[in-house]
Amino acid sequence: MPISKLKRKLKEKDEFPCLITDLKNIKYLTGFSGSNGYVIVGKKKNYFISDSRYELYAKSILKKNFRFVLQGDSLSESIKECLKEEGAKTLFLESHDLSLQQFLILKKKLRGVKMVPLEEDCVNSIRMIKTDDEIDILRRAAKITDDCVTHLTKLVKAGMTELDVATEIEYFYRKRGCSGCSFDSIVASGPGAAMPHYMPGKKKIKKGECLLIDMGCTLEGYNSDLTRTFFIDSVDVKLNGIYNTVKEAQQMALDAVKAGITTRKLDGVARNHIAESGYGDCYNHGLGHGLGLDVHELPALKRDGDLKLKNNMVITIEPGIYIPDLGGVRIEDMVLVTRTGCEVMTKSSRELIVI
Ligand code: GLY
Ligand code: MN
Ligand code: MN
Repeated sequence: MPISKLKRKLKEKDEFPCLITDLKNIKYLTGFSGSNGYVIVGKKKNYFISDSRYELYAKSILKKNFRFVLQGDSLSESIKECLKEEGAKTLFLESHDLSLQQFLILKKKLRGVKMVPLEEDCVNSIRMIKTDDEIDILRRAAKITDDCVTHLTKLVKAGMTELDVATEIEYFYRKRGCSGCSFDSIVASGPGAAMPHYMPGKKKIKKGECLLIDMGCTLEGYNSDLTRTFFIDSVDVKLNGIYNTVKEAQQMALDAVKAGITTRKLDGVARNHIAESGYGDCYNHGLGHGLGLDVHELPALKRDGDLKLKNNMVITIEPGIYIPDLGGVRIEDMVLVTRTGCEVMTKSSRELIVI
C-alpha cells in the first residue's frame, strides 16, 4: 500500500505530520482524482481534506485509515483541526508543489506552527517503483499508443497539415477509452523536426520531408509516451544516416538498461555513440525520464544523475539528433526496468519507415 510505504519513510526522519498538496501524489495515495484535495499523514491518523463538491465521492473511495475533513471557507481551519487532533506544532510540506502564495497564507493563518519542507520528494520517490497494477495500466496505454502508430502509418500523407495529424491522434485515443493525450502531441514536419519540443501548426506535410511524431495517451490517470520519425515518400541522404545513428544509440541504451545501472552511465551509452558519430552538438536533452501519473517524473535520465535504476521502474529511452533547417530524428520507447534487463513496453517497429 502506497500510504504504508510513505509512513515508513516519514518514520525514518520523524517527519509527521506532513501535508500532501500535489494532486498526482494524492491520487497515488488515495485514488482521488478531483481538483481540490489535501492529505495530511499524521502519526496517529491520516486525514483527507476536501470541499462539499467532493464529499460523497471522496468518502466512497477513501480507505478506513483516512478521516474525511470537510473544508469550509478556509483550508487553514481544516489543517488546524487535524494538527490539534495530532497534538502537533510542526507541519512538513511538499516544497516542489506548494506555491509561495499558498505558503505565505498558511504561515499567516497557522501562527505558532513551524513549517518545514520534507527532506526529499517522498511520494515522488516512492512513485518511481511501479506496482503490478500500475504496470498493467502502463502496458495497456503503451498498446493503445502502438495501435495509434499503426493507424497513422495508414492515414498520414503529403498534403495533410501537422494539426490534422495531431487532431487524429487525440480522436484515436479518446475512441479507445483514454481521457485524452498525455501532452500536446508533437507533429513536426521538415525543418520543424529540428526543434525537440515543436508545436504543430497549419503547415502542410510535404513529400521528401521527415515527420517526427511524439505522442502519448492518458489511461486511468497513467501516461504513455512514444516518438517515431517517419519519412514522407523519400528519405534525405543525411537524415537517413542520422536515423541509423539514433536507432543504434537507442538500441545500445536499451541493451544497457538493467537494475543497478546509474542514470548517468545509461545516458552516456547513447550520448557517446551519437558524439562518436559526429553529432554530439546536435543532441542536447536527457536520454529519458520516469513515466506514470506524470509524463515526466522521477527518475530523470541525464548527464549528471547518480541515481541507480531499480526493478519495476518505468522509463523512456529517447535519444535524438536535430539539424537546424533540415529536420531531426528522435526514437522514443517506454521501458520497464527488470533485474536482468528490461521489457520494451511499446512495440512499434523502430525500422525506418517511408510513408
Ligand atoms: N513528449 C515529451 C517527451 O518525450 O519527453
Ligand atoms: Mn515523448
Ligand atoms: Mn518522453
